[in-house]
Amino acid sequence: MLPIVDIPTVQYIIKEAVDSGIEEILIITNSNKHCMENHFDRSYELEERLKASGKTEEYENICDIANMANIYYVRQKEPKGLGHAILCAKSFVGDQPFAVLLGDDIVVNEDGAPALKQLIDVYNTCGASVVGVQTVPHEMVCKYGIIDPHKSSKNTGRRVKVEDMVEKPPIDEAPSDMAILGRYVLTPEIFEILENQEPGKGGEIQLTDAIKTLLISQAVYAYDFEGIRYDVGDKFGFIKATIDFALKRDEVNEQLKNYIKELAEKI
Ligand code: G1P
Repeated sequence: MLPIVDIPTVQYIIKEAVDSGIEEILIITNSNKHCMENHFDRSYELEERLKASGKTEEYENICDIANMANIYYVRQKEPKGLGHAILCAKSFVGDQPFAVLLGDDIVVNEDGAPALKQLIDVYNTCGASVVGVQTVPHEMVCKYGIIDPHKSSKNTGRRVKVEDMVEKPPIDEAPSDMAILGRYVLTPEIFEILENQEPGKGGEIQLTDAIKTLLISQAVYAYDFEGIRYDVGDKFGFIKATIDFALKRDEVNEQLKNYIKELAEKI
C-alpha cells in the first residue's frame, strides 16, 4: 500500500493487469488485507460528497479504482516464500493459465503494451509458460531469478526458450544477466509442482525452483519485455519511481523540476 506520489503501489500493478485484459484478480496478502479491501471498495458516501462539491476529477478517480476489476483476497498465513504464496491461489485459478505480478515491481511502458500484455501475447503464440526478463548489471544477478537461455535462441529477438533457471545465484555462477522481473504467465501444472516443492534459497519455497521443474515436462519461454521497471521494494528504486512519477503529474511537475535544479547546483 506504499504510495508512489499519492497512489498505492498495488494500484499501478492492478492497472497493468486490467490494461492487459485481466478481469479477475486475486491479491495474496499478509496483514494488509483490510486496508487494501477498503481502498478498492466503493465508498458511496465519499463519492456523493465529491460529486456534490464539484470535485469531478477526484470523483472519477475513486470510481475508477472501485471499477477496475473483480478483486479477491487471500491471506498467506505463513511467510514461506513466493512459491508458497502462489500456491495459495490454486483453487482460485483452477485449471487455466494465469498471470503473476509481483507487488514490488512496477513497469511503465508509455508508448507500447503493458509488460504483462506482452507476455500474454507470447503465451498466445507459444501456448507455454512465459517469464518476463530484462538484462540487469552483472553485479545484481544475485538479487534475482536468472535464466539460462537455450542455445537455439541466439537470434530469436526478445523471446528466448529457457534451458534452465536459478534463484539468486552467486555472481560468478550466474548463467546469464537476464533476470526475472516480477511478471509471469504460467500454466496450471505449476501448482502440482509447488505442492511438492522443497524449500530452496533462504529456506523458502521458491517459484523459480518450481518453474525449473516445470521445464522437465513443458517448454518455458522468457520475454525481454519493453518498459522501465522500478523495484519499489528497494529504497533507491522507490525514490526513483517517486521522482519519475511526480515529474509526470501536472500539479507538482514545475515545482519539482525547479527543486531538482536547485539541488543539482548544490551537490
Ligand atoms: C522474487 C523472485 C525472483 C525475482 C524477483 C523479481 O524475489 O523470487 O526470482 O527475480 O522477485 O523482483 P524477491 O525480490 O521477492 O526476493
